[in-house]
Amino acid sequence: MLYHTVLFGVEDGVATLTFNRPDRLNALNAEMLGEIAAVCDQVRQNLEVRVLILTGQGRAFIAGADIKELAAADALQARQISRRGQEVMDQVEELPVPVLAAVNGFALGGGCEMALAADIIYASEEAKFGQPEINLGIIPGFGGSQRLARLVGLGLAKELSFTGRTIDAAEAQAIGLAARVFPHAELLAETLKAARIIAQKGRFAMQALKQVIDRGYGLDLRAGLVLEADAFGLCFAHPDAKEGTTAFLGKRPPKFL
Ligand code: COA
Repeated sequence: MLYHTVLFGVEDGVATLTFNRPDRLNALNAEMLGEIAAVCDQVRQNLEVRVLILTGQGRAFIAGADIKELAAADALQARQISRRGQEVMDQVEELPVPVLAAVNGFALGGGCEMALAADIIYASEEAKFGQPEINLGIIPGFGGSQRLARLVGLGLAKELSFTGRTIDAAEAQAIGLAARVFPHAELLAETLKAARIIAQKGRFAMQALKQVIDRGYGLDLRAGLVLEADAFGLCFAHPDAKEGTTAFLGKRPPKFL
């Protein structure tokens, strides 16, 4: 499939989605949201894909929702834009494979929200994060008022989004937003290294693990533990469990399906 606003490719089980409107700092417009949704469909349908990397072309990861589109919207249209953006972020978050955001530059507004929809955030030393919507007289609309607090805590999420300030990669890592920070030139290679490690694990167990962590996070501990036990049991119905345990005992590397 040919896209206008993103690039997409799959190599050895690792899919890469590159936001590609560099002259607009990859601002998220309606077309790009549609193409990201189409890529999510492709990833769901392609059983060869075991992990997805998100990154941006040029100076930005994504510098936010396209302010030109927002400037032309009335209240009802803005609500629709928000619901559509949320829907696409949900699709990214709910992909059956791990999603790694390789944040190469500005991840502001919708860009920070896109990173928050990923499972793991890796940042270049040049990355910049923030929810600056308040500076435009609006609020985050693609999940940022909800997911940021869940990741970094209520106080820090309020401090960042009330001030609208931009933070660098080191601060993003210090508050638990970025998992790791790499020199800019090494970001993609390091993300690919992590992706390849993840791609070698059993697909079934990885999907169960992602699901149980995400679903369990919104539940109380007891309910989460029941989910975990159910998923743990289900892993034993898949040949990968036999392969993994037998390979360990046989002192050889496992070959998962
Ligand atoms: N929507 C639409 N266009 C955007 C954009 C966005 N979110 N972010 C950047 N652009 C455009 C700029 O208008 C500019 O276009 P121009 O070349 O026609 O003037 C181009 O991308 C380059 O951006 P520019 O502002 O010149 O780069 P900079 O290095 O001076 O500043 C930023 C970079 C990210 C600090 C600045 O572009 C910015 O603040 N962007 C908006 C961030 C934001 O508020 N996001 C939340 C939106 S809800």
